[in-house]
Amino acid sequence: MRILLVGGGGREHALAWKLRRDDPSCEVIAAPGNAGMTAVARCVPVSATDIDALLALARAESVAFTVVGPEAPLELGIVDRFRAEGLAIFGPTAAAARIETSKRFAKELMLAAGVPTAQARTFTEAAAAKAEVRRLGAPVVVKASGIAAGKGVVVAGSVEEAERAVDEMLVDGIFGEAGAEVLIEECMTGEEVSLFALTDGSHVLPFIGAQDHKRIGEGDTGPNTGGMGAYAPVSLAPPALIAEAVERIFLPTLAALRAAGCPFTGLLYAGLMLTPDGPKVVEFNCRFGDPETQALLPLMASSLLTPMRAIARGESIASMLPLTWHPGASVTTVVAAAGYPGPVRAGDAITVPPDHDGVTIFHAGTKRSADGSVVTAGGRVVAATAVAPTFAAARDASTAAAAAVRFAGAQFRRDIGWREQARAG
Ligand code: AMP
Ligand code: GLY
Repeated sequence: MRILLVGGGGREHALAWKLRRDDPSCEVIAAPGNAGMTAVARCVPVSATDIDALLALARAESVAFTVVGPEAPLELGIVDRFRAEGLAIFGPTAAAARIETSKRFAKELMLAAGVPTAQARTFTEAAAAKAEVRRLGAPVVVKASGIAAGKGVVVAGSVEEAERAVDEMLVDGIFGEAGAEVLIEECMTGEEVSLFALTDGSHVLPFIGAQDHKRIGEGDTGPNTGGMGAYAPVSLAPPALIAEAVERIFLPTLAALRAAGCPFTGLLYAGLMLTPDGPKVVEFNCRFGDPETQALLPLMASSLLTPMRAIARGESIASMLPLTWHPGASVTTVVAAAGYPGPVRAGDAITVPPDHDGVTIFHAGTKRSADGSVVTAGGRVVAATAVAPTFAAARDASTAAAAAVRFAGAQFRRDIGWREQARAG
């Protein structure tokens, strides 16, 4: 069986690795993939957003189905295009992907469906938005409605900071169209947990919880990044909490999407905040999270391929057994280039330790240079995942593997999972 995998980051490397574990005879074609994926996938130089070229590739290679990693091709309607041509594909349509690509759409849907989330209102005029900021008082959250490369959310500690953010988005237009509409949102407090569920539109197969680490610096300090590490499971998200999230969050959201005429199929990712009033949705994503996927998939015991293929073909997952997980813990440490999350230098030679005893290196920003050696080619370069019987052992092994990744200016956090460590005492 041949599978086309769209994307080329650490998430896609982990997806290819897992699909090949589930069925070593399957062939994964990655578009565009990265330098580290060649052991598990055939990489072809087709951009993840070139839908015409991806369609041609899927046809030429007679793939059984296609899996979409990143949100950009989903927003562009890759699923609509493939389905219109009768090709099986895993992911939501552009209309369903609005659960991520339009924060306004997501918020209105959640509030109408009674899904627990922060109260918010949408504005296009700065004066009205600022009046709402003053009415709510600080702390208050200002969000660009569209996708703003992960930078469109300001959790403002003062009314002045929030008003500045409103001006930057609505008056100065720093995010362009993505910030032409802003949400002014009440500020929630609590720890955040990423919860994924595979869905055929009506039924869900939830994952275990994971926790991301957005800030560049240890102790969660400094600027936001795409994610510097992740771990799973999260002791704050036991099975009862996941069951509650399925009943109160996933199922009503999926029902509302069906009722809106845009059933969601694929992987729905709920970013939850565990508030004093219970879990509430911070945001939804319409795809697997990065780097949580690199922490979660090595722990997954059951097949990912089987439910993915069913969902891609439009089949029901109602009769599928719950996903199962290996015992123990998984910790992923991202190794980033110097300067990240700002501009980074590319082309530095890199050496990576071999995979060993529960340690797997997933590549992200790497490429093969003309002489065949692997060089850096992005902000987040690789991620080192370790699975071990205890959280502490997994953390130590992940940190050691990250330290063994060598390139000029490599930086990584040594404290991934520090909240879990603190809970363990
Ligand atoms: P988002 O892009 O919506 O996930 O927001 C980025 C980050 O901003 C989240 O991971 C939270 O840490 C924070 N955030 C977003 N919305 C809120 C909120 N209503 N209250 C508190 N923090 C928030
Ligand atoms: N880990 C955050 C994201 O994938 O959006």
